[in-house]
Amino acid sequence: MMEQNGNPARPVALVTGAARGIGRAIAQRLLRDGFDVAVLDVRDPQEMTDGMEALASEAGQGAVQYVKADISRTEDRAEALAAVRRRFGRLDVLVNNAGVAPRVRADLLETGEESLDFVLGVNLRGTFFLTQAAARWMVERVNAGEPLRPAIVNVASISSYVSSVNRGEYCISKAGVSMVTALFADRLAEYGIPVHEVRPGIIRTDMTAKVEEKYDRLIREGLLPIARWGTPDDVADAVSVLVSGRLAYSTGQVVDVDGGFHIRRL
Ligand SMILES: NC(=O)c1ccc[n+]([C@@H]2O[C@H](COP(=O)([O-])OP(=O)(O)OC[C@H]3O[C@@H](n4cnc5c(N)ncnc54)[C@H](O)[C@@H]3O)[C@@H](O)[C@H]2O)c1
Repeated sequence: MMEQNGNPARPVALVTGAARGIGRAIAQRLLRDGFDVAVLDVRDPQEMTDGMEALASEAGQGAVQYVKADISRTEDRAEALAAVRRRFGRLDVLVNNAGVAPRVRADLLETGEESLDFVLGVNLRGTFFLTQAAARWMVERVNAGEPLRPAIVNVASISSYVSSVNRGEYCISKAGVSMVTALFADRLAEYGIPVHEVRPGIIRTDMTAKVEEKYDRLIREGLLPIARWGTPDDVADAVSVLVSGRLAYSTGQVVDVDGGFHIRRL
């Protein structure tokens, strides 16, 4: 029998982009919820915020595996899932959190092909094909009658529906991710695999550090009903609910984690 380090009774979650920020908070939260967790990131493990040891020590009984992979690369996606299979032998939950902003914010009239390919390649293409591969594995397990506590959660954004003309490629990618949610929710319902989405608003992470002053001002001026920055833990809490298995008659749900930003106000 294949050697596995995880406890076969524990469900396993794979969280992409989990070396820092929102992904790290999700990994930590799912460990506390009783999952073994595979932390996937394109960064080296040494670059991880607070490191693997810190995460493992917060994990209680849970096992943590670091998988270095670039989700935009076909061979990396395959190898990442193979590594999870070798280590844990199962995959219950996939959280598609890895995402990039354009390297340079450029006006829509100047958006270059390379930037569009880069952002879509990670956020949309990477998410789509990793979901497809993970879903095939989950379906295999369902068909074989093997234990599974399945869920897939995509981390989209308010940019799924809000126009920002200085990073159009990001908005297009997140709108695409929202359709990935709907498509896989539809396709996987027959196997009892729910697919949901969180749409973070303005969350304090390295990604938003460059635009901190702008968002501070907008929040002060009344942009958000809940007048504060969101935290990675706010998003992790929502993911925790969505993968809890307690929403048995729901799939394709979108949870806005945005301080009420999506509410139209007069
Ligand atoms: N911070 C926000 O305000 C905010 C708002 C809405 C949505 N989001 C989304 O939340 C997710 C996490 O954002 P964050 O703010 O924590 O960003 P972040 O930049 O702090 O973290 C993203 C992580 O993803 C990893 N990553 C990037 N490209 C990758 C690739 N090709 N393969 C594997 N890993 C890769 C990075 O190395 C990094 O560790 C992203 O999808 C982002 O678009 C963030």
